[in-house]
Amino acid sequence: MTTKPIHIRIFDTTLRDGEQSPGASMNPREKLEVARQLETLGVDAIEAGFPISSEGDFESVKTIAEKIKSCQIVGLARTQPADIERAWEAVRHAEAPVIHVFIATSPIHMKHKLRLNPDQVLEEAVFAVKAAKRLVSFVEFSAEDATRSDPDFLCKVFQAVLDAGASCINIPDTVGYTVPAEYSRLLDTIRSKVPDIERAIISVHCHNDLGLAVANTLTAIEHGATQVECTVNGIGERAGNCSMEEVVMALRTRRDHFGFQTRVDTEQIYPTSRMVSRVTGIRVQPNKAVVGANAFAHEAGIHQDGMLKEKTTYEIMTPQSIGVPKSELVLGKHSGRHAFREKLKELGYELSDDQFHRAFACFKAVADKKKEVFDEDIETIIAEEILRLPDRYVLDFLSITSGTHLIPTATVQLTKDGETLKQAEFGDGPVDAAFQAIRASSGSRSELLRYEVSAITSGSDAQGEVSVRLKEGEHVALGQGASTDILVASAKAYVNALNKLEYLKKMKKILRGGP
Ligand code: KIV
Ligand code: ZN
Repeated sequence: MTTKPIHIRIFDTTLRDGEQSPGASMNPREKLEVARQLETLGVDAIEAGFPISSEGDFESVKTIAEKIKSCQIVGLARTQPADIERAWEAVRHAEAPVIHVFIATSPIHMKHKLRLNPDQVLEEAVFAVKAAKRLVSFVEFSAEDATRSDPDFLCKVFQAVLDAGASCINIPDTVGYTVPAEYSRLLDTIRSKVPDIERAIISVHCHNDLGLAVANTLTAIEHGATQVECTVNGIGERAGNCSMEEVVMALRTRRDHFGFQTRVDTEQIYPTSRMVSRVTGIRVQPNKAVVGANAFAHEAGIHQDGMLKEKTTYEIMTPQSIGVPKSELVLGKHSGRHAFREKLKELGYELSDDQFHRAFACFKAVADKKKEVFDEDIETIIAEEILRLPDRYVLDFLSITSGTHLIPTATVQLTKDGETLKQAEFGDGPVDAAFQAIRASSGSRSELLRYEVSAITSGSDAQGEVSVRLKEGEHVALGQGASTDILVASAKAYVNALNKLEYLKKMKKILRGGP
């Protein structure tokens, strides 16, 4: 007789912890689009944000709670009543709302960050869980920095919050410090010393500072964890979080070993990875497990020979199983609405009729300039035309002169809130001249942190994609621009970053001392 595999819950925190990656901030439209894709992917819970941290985060969580129906929607809160109230206001319209309360339990955090003694931390944790429980039936409690906490104290806190009504207890490795053998001992200790633990969901949340987030998570599952907190492409604070696709595919590929299953439709993994990479501007490294460009590429002759004879010689999972498009279906100027709609579905985008018409018009314009329109071109169209928020700055025109005997000079015209601004500037090169002119005309005091160019499709008519990272005060914004002309793409990316800075300045009050 075979026993039914146990279901491991996937708690996705791409929109909260993932968004804490430097410069990864997403606008509300982008967040909703990612949330929709996570729902299609089949995650159990979406941590949509930290509602008290900013107006923008609050609005995003609220919209996601109103629109996404088949996952739990989670709002993060510290133990303060105002945080809990705000999280509740944001998630209250969800089908399955969750308030996720956290407080640090390690000596180092209690002493230096919270300036509270252990009794006070215990009291705050219980108070917060009770307060959240009065508003919502499902409360998750996290002991931040659990892996550097005293295990006896941790067990005491967990039992107390379970008594207060918590449905799920989370054991975060906040600073990516633990190793598999130690983490599994901690799980065993908690399960043996917290009397009521088995009626709760045991969740794990691992960071990747030592590259062990996935290994620690899988070990924890073998030691009784039934929920995994993770992010798409492993993005997140510092070295990132446990990668969703790696854990899910490890459980699936090695079901013989683990005997667990998730609800994830693995064929949606690749489109989800692409979408997150595009909206955050964080590229996936080519050798990244599961979703990297080389994950299914076979270079060595012996490997190619083996693959041709029998795929399982060198492939432990297939590209199709994670949703790498089977066909090289390339659209062109003769492609119609039907093919375009199918392609959008394949890429994971669900557009309203109006958005579809706008996207189709842009696609036709690109197809007129290029022989072949690749998936990457279409993703760019969606990002630029559909997901972008109304801009404060608009690039009206750009003219650049440059050459072996000329000082690179750029003239730009911008519109800012309806006012026309013109400027001409010299530079060390044509891109520098364009940036100087935009900077001077906008009056921005931002500093350029990074400039990156890549061809997003192949061929000499390829669209070039430019990423520009700008910093102003405490805000960092990533701008992206694409065009068949690399100088135009650069100017668009710079203006896009300026617009995102404006958005951040307006919306984001960075929370001091948060996770
Ligand atoms: O890393 C961490 O401890 C967190 C908590 C808020 C769960 O992100
Ligand atoms: Zn975290």
